[in-house]
Amino acid sequence: MASSAAYFAFSVLVALHLCCCHGQAADAAGSSSSDVTAIYSLGDSITDTGNLIKEAPPGMFETIKHLPYGITFGYPTGRCSDGLLMIDFLAQDLGLPFLNPYLGKNKSFDHGVNFAVAGATAMDPTDQFNGRFFAPFSSNSLNVQLSVTIFTRAIFVSADIRKRLQSSLVLIGEIGGNDYNYALFGKNVSEVEKLIPGVVRTIIDAAKV
Ligand SMILES: *[C@@H]1O[C@H](CO)[C@@H](O)[C@H](O)[C@H]1NC(C)=O
Ligand SMILES: *[C@@H]1O[C@H](CO)[C@@H](O)[C@H](O)[C@H]1NC(C)=O
Repeated sequence: MASSAAYFAFSVLVALHLCCCHGQAADAAGSSSSDVTAIYSLGDSITDTGNLIKEAPPGMFETIKHLPYGITFGYPTGRCSDGLLMIDFLAQDLGLPFLNPYLGKNKSFDHGVNFAVAGATAMDPTDQFNGRFFAPFSSNSLNVQLSVTIFTRAIFVSADIRKRLQSSLVLIGEIGGNDYNYALFGKNVSEVEKLIPGVVRTIIDAAKV
């Protein structure tokens, strides 16, 4: 995730997060409880709270299965981090429990669920690479994460959806950094820059669903 694109996205999110928390703190001073009762989240490794680790075959992504990954929790959680992610601080600020990964067996989704998977791209890999490039574990594009199958299976029973979303925070991202990361394996920077409109469009479309 060390590309400049990823860092840029990361910086923007940190800035947004700080603004958000500042507003939240101000709200908290005025009223004791938040109206947000659940968080639904899409994204990549910056937001994944344990999906990739469930999805990866044995022997892959071993690094995040061992300390110091998760040392803040006392055990590895599948987060690509030693400590808390932005999504964790957000949950804390809203007075909600940490967000469970949708692949978590027997986990509670009462306060939302996290569809973010490390390695995910915004665009479908077939759109982005014309089917010529296959990045393992990049098959969790926004479309996949948004798919009705996943949503339905993990959290909602049909008619319940609209009602629940009224009191939910839906987060889309961080996502898109991996689109550039993977492309940089075969393309130069000016070629990769041409992907930007498509990636941005994909994220906007996902937000409008
Ligand atoms: C699943 O969770 C429920 C409620 O917390 C618990 O009673 C049950 O034993 C759990 N099942 C497994 C297989 O862990
Ligand atoms: C990037 O790659 C394209 C296509 O191969 C080439 O035409 C272009 O000159 C390259 N640009 C740079 C800055 O290397």
